[in-house]
Amino acid sequence: MTDNKLQYASMRSIGAYIPEKILTNADFEKMVDTSDEWIVKRTGIKERHIAKDNEYTSDMAVKASEIAIQRAGLENSDIDLVICATVTPDYFNMPSTACIISAKLGIKNVQAFDVSAACSGFVYGLSIAKAFIESGMKKNVLVIGAEKFSSIVDYSDRSTCILFGDGAGAAVISVTDDKNEAIIDIHASADGSYADFLMTPAPGSVNPASCEVIEQGLQYVKMKGNETFKLAVKTLTKDVKEILKKNKIAVEDIDFFVPHQANYRIIKAVGDSLKMSPEQTVKTVHKYGNTSAASIPMAINDIYEEGKLKYGDTMLLDTFGGGLTWASAILPFAGK
Ligand code: ACO
Repeated sequence: MTDNKLQYASMRSIGAYIPEKILTNADFEKMVDTSDEWIVKRTGIKERHIAKDNEYTSDMAVKASEIAIQRAGLENSDIDLVICATVTPDYFNMPSTACIISAKLGIKNVQAFDVSAACSGFVYGLSIAKAFIESGMKKNVLVIGAEKFSSIVDYSDRSTCILFGDGAGAAVISVTDDKNEAIIDIHASADGSYADFLMTPAPGSVNPASCEVIEQGLQYVKMKGNETFKLAVKTLTKDVKEILKKNKIAVEDIDFFVPHQANYRIIKAVGDSLKMSPEQTVKTVHKYGNTSAASIPMAINDIYEEGKLKYGDTMLLDTFGGGLTWASAILPFAGK
């Protein structure tokens, strides 16, 4: 702490950017051997938004961030840390997408870095923001989840291409001395022994870019869908039960349960096991598909823009993704 007074981290605002172009299930029927019926029954997805060719992860992140910063009542120059959660960065090695976002926002002399935790990235980012703020090192942290997942999807692989969409969400996490506004708790975990459940095999030190790598399609996302599904349901449910119990918070005390939007069947299975009502459970998977690290902030932005999410409402975030990684968080919304 910078002085003897306790400082907490609070979510001051939320913003999102959703690309205009829509790919419907009917579009996929023309591209691969699939059907609207199969996709809706197995995933709940009806459409997903896709960025333009010249619209990059940082561009979507900047649009979401501008909204979040404005809603927080701040100037871009008030931001002292930029964290971008993404597995589809503008460039795979360097510079980080967070650096590019900072430059596009005109923020100078700011600490900026990316977090690679796939779909769990935004909640991982929240946990880092919380630690930086509570330690007194930063005051206003911009946490972004942004993905151009269409850049790593093989549109001839029906088992993955129907699942993913593009988009960005951003939140401003600011210091407060009001405990009622404080992020209550965050759990973030990983188990790399399941790394091959969900991966892009190239480019990287294992498979540096080469003609062979491209010919084999190793630059595309590969997923063991069914194995991932089972583990997701188990882990998400267990993690949420633990964080609620640890903080002595009952399911009825949660205003909005915001799960990662990968598959409606996962959301329903976890929600049912936790006894969350349909009114508590936020669902956007039908219209955005799986937008990985952007999924949770985009879902929070949806309930904010619909006028449902109000100052003081308690949210429970719950996510799961490649790594494997998973994370959950309990926090009040402290935005106006
Ligand atoms: N259209 C029609 N048939 C299909 C399609 C499709 N788009 N995709 C697969 N199939 C077929 C398969 O080939 C298989 O056929 P077979 O029985 O003849 O072999 C059959 O459907 C069943 O395949 P499964 O993979 O067992 O189907 P499942 O019910 O598991 O659904 C899905 C697949 C939707 C991918 C599901 O497993 C899932 O959602 N998994 C979890 C995804 C997830 O949560 N990922 C984590 C986060 S993502 C991240 O971190 C970036």
